[in-house]
Amino acid sequence: MPDTLTIIDNRTGQQYEVPIAHATYPEYGSYIRAADLKKVKSSPTDFGLLSYDPAFMNTASCRSSVTFIDGDRGILRYRGYPIEELAAKSNFLEVAYLLLWGELPTQTQLDEWTHWVKMHTMVHENIKKFIDGFHHDAHPMGMLVSAMAALSTFYPESKNVLDPAVRKQQIYRLIAKIPTVSAYAYRHSQGLPYVYPDNDLNYVGNFLNMMFKMTEVKYTPDPVLERALNVLFILHADHEQNCSANAMRSVGSSQADPYVSLASAASALYGPLHGGANEMVLRMLRQIGSKDKVADYMKRVKAGEFKLMGFGHRVYKNYDPRAKILKEMAMQVFEVTGKNPLLDMALELERIALEDDYFVSRKLYPNVDFYSGLIYQAMKFPVDMFPVLFAIPRTAGWLAQWQELLEDGEQKIARPRQIYTGEDTRSYVAMQKRAEAATRTEATPALM
Ligand code: MLT
Repeated sequence: MPDTLTIIDNRTGQQYEVPIAHATYPEYGSYIRAADLKKVKSSPTDFGLLSYDPAFMNTASCRSSVTFIDGDRGILRYRGYPIEELAAKSNFLEVAYLLLWGELPTQTQLDEWTHWVKMHTMVHENIKKFIDGFHHDAHPMGMLVSAMAALSTFYPESKNVLDPAVRKQQIYRLIAKIPTVSAYAYRHSQGLPYVYPDNDLNYVGNFLNMMFKMTEVKYTPDPVLERALNVLFILHADHEQNCSANAMRSVGSSQADPYVSLASAASALYGPLHGGANEMVLRMLRQIGSKDKVADYMKRVKAGEFKLMGFGHRVYKNYDPRAKILKEMAMQVFEVTGKNPLLDMALELERIALEDDYFVSRKLYPNVDFYSGLIYQAMKFPVDMFPVLFAIPRTAGWLAQWQELLEDGEQKIARPRQIYTGEDTRSYVAMQKRAEAATRTEATPALM
């Protein structure tokens, strides 16, 4: 059987053969090229058929080898490695290397990668002054987005995005500096002095140091919390063509430098539907108030009064595999921090949702946001920092997507088409005539 699609245009009776191509394996998806539809025309002057897909519900914008998701089966893999294995056995910097360069590093490669990231953890002192300029109650995500864009002005050579060596240098810088800038944003909002990076610590431990060090001479992170944050960072490192990755690719496709492209991606993540979702879960749990009120709340969700936050996902029609890992990890974290009082409500809510056909038939399973907020809160991160905690690890994914885009010979500047719904051509109306027409329209009701 040929790998083609036959299209019959019933307007003209014309028949077209369109090739069908496959992802790596046919079960990973097949596709036609949207440009092949252009030849389907009702007349020689017709523009040709477009596919209309608001919010990209069924449109692939690229071919990618970074992350694989099978939403129906609840599968997530980075470069082919299951997320469960990476979360259990790896650490964030190794996973970042994997996402960026395609393979797990050898010991020498990992040492070199870690060395170069550590060499770039400091930021120019002017970044401190820049952050000082924000109001005391500025949202840390607003400060992060602006400071990441501002870094572009410190590294003008980064505009040379087609040079792989220049790209690599910016990748080191961005992975290294985003925890520093994030921690500075937090310290500013608390009125606390900025803490310089401590390169004796690992990537995650150093971030905790820059966030939480007080008067002690040397900050020592709690090993359980450090490991938990490592796992959270691994789980958030990439998620194929999500809204912020799409922003990174779209802005990057104009060959803008990676700092401003990343600031755009982080801006997309700032939206409540993307990076703000775990905060909404906490708000919902607080609104419910206590475990005995959960059942009633669920009835009201079914009646359409409220939305169930942290359940359901655009691509997962099954349990989000990241949520499963986080649920287990939450218990380990709470052994150190004490149980988050919202946990019992969360567990009850999940129990009811998984037993109720209303939620099961709608494929509303817990997603990554359902447990992450509870864990971050127990670790003493303020709610405003939640999207920042998402942006730090996602930097690896954004850069992997950006690099892949620039190396993809098929990509051009992103430029979607539209379905025009406005007026047909009409002639310019002189101001006097417009005024007369307006008077006539206003006068009409009075005449009636
Ligand atoms: C993500 O990890 O980016 C979120 O789950 C959103 C998404 O994938 O669409």
